Amino acid sequence: MDPSEGQNTGELAGKKILLGICGSIAAYKAAYLCRLFVKAGASMRVVMTPTATSFISPVTLSTLSRNPVHVSITDDDQWNDHVEWGLWADLFIIAPVTATTLAKMASGIADNMLLATYLSARCKCLIAPAMDLDMWKHPSTRRNLQLLQSDGVDLIDVEDGELASGLVGPGRMSEPDEIFKLICRHFERSQIFKGKKVLVTAGPTVEKIDPVRFITNHSTGRMGTELALAFARSGAAVQLVHGPLKVAPPDNPSISLYSVETAREMEQICSQLHQNCDIAAFTAAVSDYRPKTACDKKIKKDGRDNLSIEFERNPDIAAICGKRKRAGQFHLGFALETDNEQENAIKKLREKNFDAIALNSLADEGAGFGHLTNKVSLISENKSVYLELKPKAQIAEEIVNFIAENYEPYSEP
Ligand code: C5P
Repeated sequence: MDPSEGQNTGELAGKKILLGICGSIAAYKAAYLCRLFVKAGASMRVVMTPTATSFISPVTLSTLSRNPVHVSITDDDQWNDHVEWGLWADLFIIAPVTATTLAKMASGIADNMLLATYLSARCKCLIAPAMDLDMWKHPSTRRNLQLLQSDGVDLIDVEDGELASGLVGPGRMSEPDEIFKLICRHFERSQIFKGKKVLVTAGPTVEKIDPVRFITNHSTGRMGTELALAFARSGAAVQLVHGPLKVAPPDNPSISLYSVETAREMEQICSQLHQNCDIAAFTAAVSDYRPKTACDKKIKKDGRDNLSIEFERNPDIAAICGKRKRAGQFHLGFALETDNEQENAIKKLREKNFDAIALNSLADEGAGFGHLTNKVSLISENKSVYLELKPKAQIAEEIVNFIAENYEPYSEP
């Protein structure tokens, strides 16, 4: 059966898809994949690694894609503009991707056209690996995959089966029909929140004690920035209000950045932006208290053995916005609990008028502050979904999907 049957392929019409092919025995499958995209109305360009040309001819791919295929950064005396190719694409799918290309992508090596294009691309990149059993299981492959996923690359998992070596196990590239369906779904998803405004808070806040000292916490802002990016990919216009980030702020035309230091500054901007948003995700680790008075001059020891600083409450941004929440607005909160996790999360869900809360625990290895990965339970009044340990980019994607399933836009009574 044609995989496009029963599938909404309309989303692919006019989309610009860049297909990367690496040197694997599975390279022949890329020809069929290319044909499926062209049939569904996508514009195709193909970039191959030099080794891939030993497995399948560029002529086959240029005929199917109706465009020249690039292999090298230069051809005779002509420069192939990898920057233009990278910026052209709405989506970059590398199928098959080999262990070598994975490793080079993970470490930023750009010694061929495919890799240089990858580094220049701003669009979503998906990879469909193909390799033999032990290469797939090798710790270096695992490490590189994890790095790439935390860079926002989506993995299309390998299939189990007979491999070119005769060994049997995981390592076969996913079938073109499956990859095609996944990409159709990706484009469908990019429309989920089209026209919606999303407010995201991220990172820590910083409260001044004196001109050289402050109180803050371990938040890096990664979960919030990943969430902002995931909403942007789903078509939303995002307003990201963030404290001092320890990760790079997202550079994305759909994300407006508002940089603040203190909880009070964050509250002021959020209160304004909240009025017009459809979805608000309170990811920031806001300081609950601030020093009652911030000294103008550096506090001196003055022979004291002890020093007491009096603290006062900061505004609770999520609770303030929660009180003003109207029909058609969806609020997501975060909770980091050390005891009675579920119970406390549900209490917070109700107190702050959240529609859902993402609970992560400090007790979980690899989850929470500073980690590339996270482990989260998404809890609402009538549902609880557990997301196992995975890169924060992927957790963000699944949170967006969860909200899409539970969000009820305002409709006139
Ligand atoms: O009460 P707790 O700090 O555990 O609640 C966590 C949730 O509330 C998070 O979503 C966080 O972003 C939000 N929050 C806030 N303003 C505060 C404290 C927490 O928005 N002052």
